[in-house]
Amino acid sequence: MAVLSMQRALLLAGAVLPLGLAQTITGADGEVLPANEVTVAPAAEAGTLELTDAVLANLTAHELSDIELFQFDDSEAVSENAKRTTRVGDCKVYPGDWKWPSRLTWAVFDLLTGGALIETVPIGAVCYPNSGVYDAQKCASIIENWTQSATHANDPTSVMSPLYQGETCMPQNGNTTQCTLGGFPSYAVKARGVYQIQLAVNFARNLGLRLVVKNTGHDFLGKSCGSGALSIWTHNLKSIEFRKSFKTPSYSGPALEIGAGVQVGELYAAAKQYGVTAVGGECKGVGVSGGYTAGGGHSPLSSKFGLGSDQVLSLNVVLPNGRYVTASETENKDLFFALRGGGGATFGVVTSMVIKAHPKMSFSGLTWTITTGNDTANPDSVFWEAMYAYWRKFPEYAENKTYGYSMIFPRGPAGAGYTWTMHPWMVPGMALADFKAMVQPLFDEWKCIGFEFEPEYFEYDNFYDMWTRHFPTEAVANSNMRTASRLFPRDVWANDTKREAMFDEVRSVVEEGSALIQYNMNPAQPAGTPDSGANSHWRDAIWFGIMGSAWAPGISQTELEAVQRKITDNWMGRLRVYGPGGYLNEGDVMEPDFAEAFYGTNYDRLLQIKRKVDPNDVFWAPTAVGSERWKVAGQQDWLTLQTGKLCRVAA
Ligand SMILES: Cc1cc2nc3c(=O)[nH]c(=O)nc-3n(C[C@H](O)[C@H](O)[C@H](O)COP(=O)(O)OP(=O)(O)OC[C@H]3O[C@@H](n4cnc5c(N)ncnc54)[C@H](O)[C@@H]3O)c2cc1C
Ligand SMILES: *[C@@H]1O[C@H](CO)[C@@H](O)[C@H](O)[C@H]1NC(C)=O
Ligand SMILES: *[C@@H]1O[C@H](CO)[C@@H](O)[C@H](O)[C@H]1NC(C)=O
Ligand SMILES: *[C@@H]1O[C@H](CO)[C@@H](O)[C@H](O)[C@H]1NC(C)=O
Ligand SMILES: *[C@@H]1O[C@H](CO)[C@@H](O)[C@H](O)[C@H]1NC(C)=O
Ligand SMILES: *[C@@H]1O[C@H](CO)[C@@H](O)[C@H](O)[C@H]1NC(C)=O
Ligand SMILES: *[C@@H]1O[C@H](CO)[C@@H](O)[C@H](O)[C@H]1NC(C)=O
Repeated sequence: MAVLSMQRALLLAGAVLPLGLAQTITGADGEVLPANEVTVAPAAEAGTLELTDAVLANLTAHELSDIELFQFDDSEAVSENAKRTTRVGDCKVYPGDWKWPSRLTWAVFDLLTGGALIETVPIGAVCYPNSGVYDAQKCASIIENWTQSATHANDPTSVMSPLYQGETCMPQNGNTTQCTLGGFPSYAVKARGVYQIQLAVNFARNLGLRLVVKNTGHDFLGKSCGSGALSIWTHNLKSIEFRKSFKTPSYSGPALEIGAGVQVGELYAAAKQYGVTAVGGECKGVGVSGGYTAGGGHSPLSSKFGLGSDQVLSLNVVLPNGRYVTASETENKDLFFALRGGGGATFGVVTSMVIKAHPKMSFSGLTWTITTGNDTANPDSVFWEAMYAYWRKFPEYAENKTYGYSMIFPRGPAGAGYTWTMHPWMVPGMALADFKAMVQPLFDEWKCIGFEFEPEYFEYDNFYDMWTRHFPTEAVANSNMRTASRLFPRDVWANDTKREAMFDEVRSVVEEGSALIQYNMNPAQPAGTPDSGANSHWRDAIWFGIMGSAWAPGISQTELEAVQRKITDNWMGRLRVYGPGGYLNEGDVMEPDFAEAFYGTNYDRLLQIKRKVDPNDVFWAPTAVGSERWKVAGQQDWLTLQTGKLCRVAA
């Protein structure tokens, strides 16, 4: 019967659906959009198109009898539709299950979204001779540009940590393995408008499907992919608008309204154009209004203006029940709290946000590349002495509003020395003369101990020019590696014994083979900024360290387990003593007490909000708020990939 009505729907769909939708969707200004399929989702106005009860009523009037698949769910309790997945052991509907939507149902869904549904073909499939889409030229270009973030951001389902997809269908392995879907979702909706996101949320919820959200795919924990899922791809929501004056109870001044797909580089370019300074991350490809802000977001400007999530003045979001609402200081306050730092893919799909625009200002700082080891002027003993001297001054530099971003990579096997790249150390709004005065005492110490270094100083009158010249380009999508992180609080520095013991421990983790990406900054909550769900551990952190390890391809399961346990239990175990917090966007997916580490004192309130807005767990991601109730099937207890069914483990 279901099939029959679907066939009927499909027949109707060709003639009626785009018409039905277009006739009942009005622009923000009340203008009724013309009825043809192209204008159902025009790129420019798309953001204003909304799915409403009236639209659904009209579709029903056109005899689309299975319209309940797209209906909203306004009850706050667990819904009838979702009941099938409320018992322990139940799983989200998975390909092959009898409840999995038929091809016809997917086709109707596609038509309703204006042709936005994409059945997943993994990005590497073009390299697989019997995939049906083999294309030697495309394959070569994907391999050539594999480590560029745009290669993955521009694909509906590719993510930049292929580990979580099971490293399946890697383009480099086209001649030696088979291309399988692994942790890729089954389908993605290429969202150009709000209504497509609403349809996808309603469809996934009503059918009990797993739902994921992918923007750029930068996530380090596997949160933007998932086997058998329907994915909402937000990358093409690119609008940027400057608001000369925007008022909230706590803010009055210029602002930028940005769509969910806007990336850091696009935001910075717009800010330059409008003569303001915007807060975003360091790498140009990160989705600033996607996972970055949702997870807190640290920035070169964080010591001065706080976290990315502290910039948010208002957000528009599609909720788990399908409704489209605004969250701000005055509307939906709980959501406003949660969506600022409480994590992506948890409370809904953010479609756009308004963020503060700060005045244009000057930037001074420096960069360096220092090579250490017995074959250099800086044997490692001197290098570490110099590093400790630098670390000891972190409280003072944080007070000076520093952003000190550097990486320490081993040059080879243990004992072969390190490369320490500073790119950059800078202070927003500080004149170069003051910056030089600030670093001089450290450099005097370094001269005394015989540490050789050559700083290159810079000074700019705006952020954009400094950022384009002195920040590294990102390289992504390496296989066989995993990272973890710690937030080290200021109070450790007040106790000499504890501080030196912490330094010794970080040093020994690096000596055991970890890279160290370190940030000296303090993203305190700016005065007057409303409280948010951002990790409380960020607020008094003055040192953020990302550590991690790679492993050789093809190692045994036992060796693989040993590497994973070393990262989570050994290295992080030793450092957790000093830094109980970690950063959820750049953290360890196996973090044992993720609630405490990634959310701190905000976890309980965030969980209450999650239960209220998403009683059916329409949204789930590893280490997200409320994620404890589900588990990906078939995983080792030392590494959660996204390659299996998502199943209930607690009521
Ligand atoms: C090279 C590189 C550099 C980085 N630099 C920084 C940095 O300087 N500062 C910093 O803080 N972080 C940085 N990060 C981490 C970055 O903030 C996170 O990876 C972040 O989650 C990326 O968000 P995204 O939307 O681009 O990625 P995605 O992987 O697409 O999404 C990340 C998470 O957010 C969810 N999500 C995305 N969009 C939405 C939406 N509209 N609504 C609801 N949920 C959504 C996804 O489901 C997923 O859970 C960096 C990461 C990389 C790989
Ligand atoms: C429903 O569609 C009809 C045309 O079929 C249109 O006249 C009417 O305005 C639509 N209703 C709503 C609520 O938009
Ligand atoms: C790789 O990316 C660069 C831009 O970063 C582009 O110029 C080049 O054409 C790409 N190569 C291929 C083979 O697509
Ligand atoms: C697969 O083999 C062909 C023929 O030898 C070669 O041209 C191609 O580059 C190989 N592809 C990959 C992904 O290694
Ligand atoms: C940096 O902070 C210290 C106090 O921690 C202060 O004495 C010093 O003047 C500051 N330097 C600059 C350049 O602001
Ligand atoms: C570097 O020099 C130190 C001191 O002479 C020595 O103990 C160490 O073994 C040397 N390391 C390497 C890798 O040569
Ligand atoms: C300083 O830290 C050490 C080691 O963690 C601890 O034993 C000691 O009690 C601390 N001292 C103070 C004054 O807190």
